[in-house]
Amino acid sequence: MNIDKITHEVKNKGIVEIKQWLTNKDKDKIAKIINIERPLKSDFYNSTYVINFKTFIKKILKLKFLNIFRSIYFNNLSKKLGLEKIAERIFDSKVKLIRIDNFWTPRSDEPVIDWHVDNAYSGRKDVKIFNEPDKNAIKFFFYLTDVSRDNGCLSYIPYSHKVAYALKHGIYNGKIKYQTYWTLSDFRKIVLIKENYNYIKSVIDEKYLTKFLNTSDLVLNNKYKEEKLDHQINSGGALIFDEAGVHRGSKTKLNDRMVLRFFYQKI
Ligand SMILES: [Fe+2]
Repeated sequence: MNIDKITHEVKNKGIVEIKQWLTNKDKDKIAKIINIERPLKSDFYNSTYVINFKTFIKKILKLKFLNIFRSIYFNNLSKKLGLEKIAERIFDSKVKLIRIDNFWTPRSDEPVIDWHVDNAYSGRKDVKIFNEPDKNAIKFFFYLTDVSRDNGCLSYIPYSHKVAYALKHGIYNGKIKYQTYWTLSDFRKIVLIKENYNYIKSVIDEKYLTKFLNTSDLVLNNKYKEEKLDHQINSGGALIFDEAGVHRGSKTKLNDRMVLRFFYQKI
């Protein structure tokens, strides 16, 4: 897939799948690093890498020299894959890398993390300072294990990132009164308040709002073919998405899940 197509898909729908991206050599190397780093084989594991001078100093102080060595590899990998360029095209702006990490999720029948919005104050009621709407990130998820429905895949409601952006815009500028919107049903509630709806409509094309409302209504009423929203990816493939959109994480029923992630934010 070319960069124009990728940019268009993420800007428009909020997410794009890249079925095969990593070389076998990189895939093996990343999986090996994650396997070595994970101390407890049965637990969640998350490890961050150096992205700037501050994080470099932190690793030095903790004597994490191997981590620094691996960080050089991950930073070079991001350059080789052209991630910064893609994020710049999606945002139409210069960007900065704000996080590189890996994530290990053990196999489990535990319930999924249900539909939610990132950076929505985790459902807090008493929020005093609101985030700038442009502070959301573009996330690159590289899978080192196969993911599918009920087995570690990410699901995403198309166009929801546009609605969330307009909502945040209104809250940040004092045009929309904040109320919790971390969950999908709360998110729909705040969007459907007449004044809020009209404000959102003035920021984005109403057709996106309509599409989002139709899909999310069916999702909440269990009438949607939800597999249409699930992103099944094999090891070596990736997802690129705007974190502002409504998404959920599936349970890891069949196997452990390994992901390498890069986050970029507008400067
Ligand atoms: Fe999330």
